[in-house]
Amino acid sequence: MSFSHAILEKNVVLLAVCTLITVAIGGLVQIVPLFTIEQTIERVEGVRPYSPLELAGRNIYVREGCYNCHSQQIRPFRDEIERYGHYSLAAESMYDHPFQWGSKRSGPDLARVGGKYSDDWHVAHMIDPRAVVPESIMPAYAFMATRPLDYSDIQAHLKTLKLIGVPYTDEMIANAKADLEAQKDPEGDTAGLTARYPKAVVSNFGGTPGKVTELDAMVAYLQMLGTLVDFRNVKPEQLRQ
Ligand code: HEC
Repeated sequence: MSFSHAILEKNVVLLAVCTLITVAIGGLVQIVPLFTIEQTIERVEGVRPYSPLELAGRNIYVREGCYNCHSQQIRPFRDEIERYGHYSLAAESMYDHPFQWGSKRSGPDLARVGGKYSDDWHVAHMIDPRAVVPESIMPAYAFMATRPLDYSDIQAHLKTLKLIGVPYTDEMIANAKADLEAQKDPEGDTAGLTARYPKAVVSNFGGTPGKVTELDAMVAYLQMLGTLVDFRNVKPEQLRQ
C-alpha cells in the first residue's frame, strides 16, 4: 500500500470526502453529455410523436412486458438487416420514454414490424399466436380483444411527454381524445388526425366497431413501428452515428 493511500484509509473524513469527489466526477461524466442530447441525435425526416392511439398501444406494450421477449433495435449487421430491414436510427426512438430497445430476443425484433402483416393477422396472432404460427411460444393476449381501452388520461399523458421534450403541440393535446377515436374509425373524418400525425394508419384494427379496445391500440402501435422514415429520402451523412 502506498504511503498516501495509507493516510486516506486511516482518516475516515478524508476518505469520505475523496470518495464523494470521485463519485461526483463519475456522475458528471455520465450526466453532462445528456444535456447535449438534442444536438447529438440527428433529426431524420418523418419521425413524429406517437398518435394518441399508438401511444395507448405502446403503454400496453410496456405494461405487458413485451420487451422481455422482443427487442426494437435492428443492429447494423448484415444478417439483421437482411431479416428485418434498415438498421435502427437513434432518431427513430427519440420520442420513446422509456425506449423499448430491449436486450432479449425470444421473439423477433419488432422495430419494423409495421405493415409486415395485415391487421387481421395481428388480431388472430394476439388472440392466439398458435393459430397463425403453430410452433410459437408467445403467450396469448386474448383479453385485449374484449377489454375496453381506458383512455381517460390520454391528454394528461401527452402533456407529461411534452414536459420532457416530446413536441406535442397544444392542438394535439386539445384533440387527443378525438384523434384517438378517429384513428379507429375509417368511416369518420380523419383529416385532422392525419394532418397532425402524418402516416397514421386509420383502421378498424381489432374488429369491434364503435368501441375502442386494448387490442385496437396494440395493433395501431404495431402497425406503425418502423414505418415513419422513408429511407429513400435519408442522406448517407445522416446515417453516420
Ligand atoms: C415469452 C416470450 C414472448 C412474449 C412475452 C411476447 N412475445 Fe411476441 N413473439 C414471441 C415469439 C417466440 C414470436 C415468434 C413466433 C410467433 O410469431 O408467434 C413472437 C412474435 C411476435 C410478433 C410477430 C413478429 C414477426 O415479425 O413475425 C409480434 C407482432 C409480436 N410477437 C408481438 C408481441 C406483443 C405485442 C407482445 C406483448 C403484448 C408480445 N409479442 C409478447 C415471443 C413473445
